[in-house]
Amino acid sequence: MNILELAKNRKTVRKFSKDIPPIEDIKYAINIAKEAPSGKNDQPWLFILITNKEEKVKIREICEKGEKAFYKNSKGRLKEWLDKMSFSWEKDFLSEAPYLLFVFSNSKSPFSKESVWISIGYLLLALEEKGLSTVTYTPSNYNEISRFINPPENYKLEVILPIGYSIDNKHKYARKDLEDILIIR
Ligand SMILES: Cc1cc2nc3c(=O)[nH]c(=O)nc-3n(C[C@H](O)[C@H](O)[C@H](O)COP(=O)(O)O)c2cc1C
Repeated sequence: MNILELAKNRKTVRKFSKDIPPIEDIKYAINIAKEAPSGKNDQPWLFILITNKEEKVKIREICEKGEKAFYKNSKGRLKEWLDKMSFSWEKDFLSEAPYLLFVFSNSKSPFSKESVWISIGYLLLALEEKGLSTVTYTPSNYNEISRFINPPENYKLEVILPIGYSIDNKHKYARKDLEDILIIR
């Protein structure tokens, strides 16, 4: 598949098969992510891959505690959207996905957040190429979950990527047309 086909096919997946993809495929995707540009070429990304079942269960427990508070407090248009999407505080994918990839940014680097999110974009397309799926899960209680993972000093949690084979039958959501998002002067 070329990059247009990969980008068009990719969609967020929240239900995963129990089948375990080869760890080499995850390494392949990280190998591509690390080719991303970064401020001062500081390469401020750090990836921590969790495969251990007990750790995944504990991570889910911590995240769901934060999600319960988030869902209880959400209101207005956000709450309407969450209800429409049938989202809830329950995050099965955290214990069900074979892999949880934690992505951190070095807060001492310039444009660390921007750089790391570019690398995440690379990673998503690389996973797609390997037939793997994920959800860019941004937990409500970053600090608590980060303390549990215990990254090196100054590394800030950006996202948790549960990775595996999709058993989610959701369709790909529509995107805006090029004419609606591009202004050429
Ligand atoms: C920065 C960012 C944060 C996101 N956070 C979450 C999240 O916490 N939980 C979730 O289920 N999906 C999350 N998503 C996934 C979006 O809801 C999803 O990408 C969007 O609805 C479009 O759907 P698609 O990726 O299937 O095309 C996030 C996506 C991005 C880019």
